[in-house]
Amino acid sequence: METAEQLRSADQGQDLFKIHGTHHVELYVGNAKQAAYYYRRALGFRITGYLGPETGVKDRASYLVEQGKIRFVLTTALHPDSPIAAHVHEHGDGVRDIALQVENAEEAYRITTERGARGVMEPVETSDHFGTIKTATIATYGDTVHSFVERGSYSGFFLPNFEPREDNLSTPCGLKHVDHIVGNVDWNKMEETVNFYANVFGFTKFVSFDDKDISTEYSALRSTVVANENKWVKFPINEPAEGLKRSQIEEYVNFYKGAGVQHIAMESENILETIAKMRANGVEFINVPHSYYDELAKRMSEISESIEELKALNILVDFDDKGYMLQIFTKPIEDRPTLFFEIIQRRGGESFGKGNFKALFEAIERDQAARGNL
Ligand code: FE2
Repeated sequence: METAEQLRSADQGQDLFKIHGTHHVELYVGNAKQAAYYYRRALGFRITGYLGPETGVKDRASYLVEQGKIRFVLTTALHPDSPIAAHVHEHGDGVRDIALQVENAEEAYRITTERGARGVMEPVETSDHFGTIKTATIATYGDTVHSFVERGSYSGFFLPNFEPREDNLSTPCGLKHVDHIVGNVDWNKMEETVNFYANVFGFTKFVSFDDKDISTEYSALRSTVVANENKWVKFPINEPAEGLKRSQIEEYVNFYKGAGVQHIAMESENILETIAKMRANGVEFINVPHSYYDELAKRMSEISESIEELKALNILVDFDDKGYMLQIFTKPIEDRPTLFFEIIQRRGGESFGKGNFKALFEAIERDQAARGNL
């Protein structure tokens, strides 16, 4: 049984400035037009906005795709000397910015930088005829950043310079919101990264796993979760641990060329329907052996889904003292074995799937072995 154990006593649960939640996640990609097509046709997102030369921004093209409350911005460079192109060259497609909506961007920037965060962009105002948005940006692990977005009385649909787009191409897959965003960091960097979130944001460390929890025969890792006061923002941080062979976190760091976002977990309103649709759309998921469901059958009285359906779609179940959660991981969504998505549905359970780590990570290892990286 896993409980939401509080590991830290000082400053517990006290955001140092007001955070409303995740505003959007921006990915830097090699070809945003084609990436947007994948997010629409495979994952059920709608394009709702666009920014580029046609809207007065000359160096990039960005597509805003949305599903439920999830907002991703897919951005690509239009010139080789762009920092966006450099990011893609180094990391492949990946998450650049986990943007947080705050009450006051200037205050968020001042507090975080005074407490040791590296500033990337000082507070700046951008305006269009819908009003003014204030943003500022700080660095976190690797080349990943957090922008602070203060919307104030801005009445536009997203951010200045984005023009709205209509999209009738995609059918939604039932995704509602981001549940958590996981960062992978290098050997012995987890503590430092977790302390960064505790010291700079006032986040609480609330669950911790060590290599005894998350070790299969081979790919061990350690993980600690940090979360803000209302737990709308949850960031598990992983680091590699010694195993018999190479840790999956080490494989990520080797291919991403440093720390970065490993996966984004998105909650579905009905995971059975979501996964059936995504599989029909061609999304690839990791394969868990059918023997997993023999164990699960012993607890079937505790869940409302049919084991046969879960088995057919390869969805896993984890229990805690509050209920249970259903989950599945996609395969990496680009050719480097880096970023993937997790689809989850919570039925009371607050866990991150600790009870499934062995089954999930053995499945990941089989793919890792097939790539020759184990
Ligand atoms: Fe997760």
